[in-house]
Amino acid sequence: MERNINIYMKNTIETFRKQKLNGDKITMLTAYDYSTAKLIDQSGIDSILVGDSLGMTMLGYDSTLSVTMEDMIHHTKAVSRGVENALIVADMPFMSYQTSIYDAVVNAGRLIKEGNAHAVKLEGGATVCEQIKAIVDCQIPVMAHIGLTPQSINAFGGFKVQGKSQETAQRLIDDALKVQEAGAFAVVLEGIPSKLAKIITEKLDIATIGIGAGADCDGQVLVYQDMLAMFSDFKPKFVKYFANIGEVMTSAFMEYSKEVKNGTFPSAEHCYKIDDDIIERLH
Ligand code: KIV
Repeated sequence: MERNINIYMKNTIETFRKQKLNGDKITMLTAYDYSTAKLIDQSGIDSILVGDSLGMTMLGYDSTLSVTMEDMIHHTKAVSRGVENALIVADMPFMSYQTSIYDAVVNAGRLIKEGNAHAVKLEGGATVCEQIKAIVDCQIPVMAHIGLTPQSINAFGGFKVQGKSQETAQRLIDDALKVQEAGAFAVVLEGIPSKLAKIITEKLDIATIGIGAGADCDGQVLVYQDMLAMFSDFKPKFVKYFANIGEVMTSAFMEYSKEVKNGTFPSAEHCYKIDDDIIERLH
């Protein structure tokens, strides 16, 4: 008898490679918890990034610098429970890989073994190629991240667009080629001019994932609270609101408060019943 088996193929780094080859744009969003990851996965998004941006969007820090390995593992585990198809990439937090190649390998391994991520992401170009190579040698796929790398905010003197001079633009091209050579399967291009991102994308065999890097990258990533207008501390130029969920949530919270205060919630349909004769026998 023929069995009707519903096989879901998970996205892998091979999917990224094919998408780049076929010119099929790669979609990526951040997620940090089970429920959101499940919704994103069910929407058919190719990849989920458990970004260290969780330091700002979930934990309320003013940068990503305080995020720990424990924070990343905790949130990556939650995301992985909600995902069937998307490729899960977990960020390596500040100082989990810069300190030594040993630290980089051990911490990348923890995100895979304890967090159940499929790949890790780390920030930097030429300076972290030894780490990328060592992690990839352990069979852990690495996504690189160059340009406006948030972990360098103190060195950059703020969240500033990178690669606008000939020297810095050339350095970013060289960095992109070096992380590819070190074994990265993709590279995030953040906060760089669109024309520079186009050149980098054309030069690389691996996929480029843009955020504030224009439409010519092989894919795009956004922080989900940004694209849903849920994070109001600031709005970078590259963010588009695809829905105003922040406003929807606020009005739902206000309506809940009103109904609790005026006694209309909970109504009979939200309450559990018990037989009256049992109630009468209680003392
Ligand atoms: O942490 C993050 O969410 C990121 C994206 C902005 C690329 O690194």
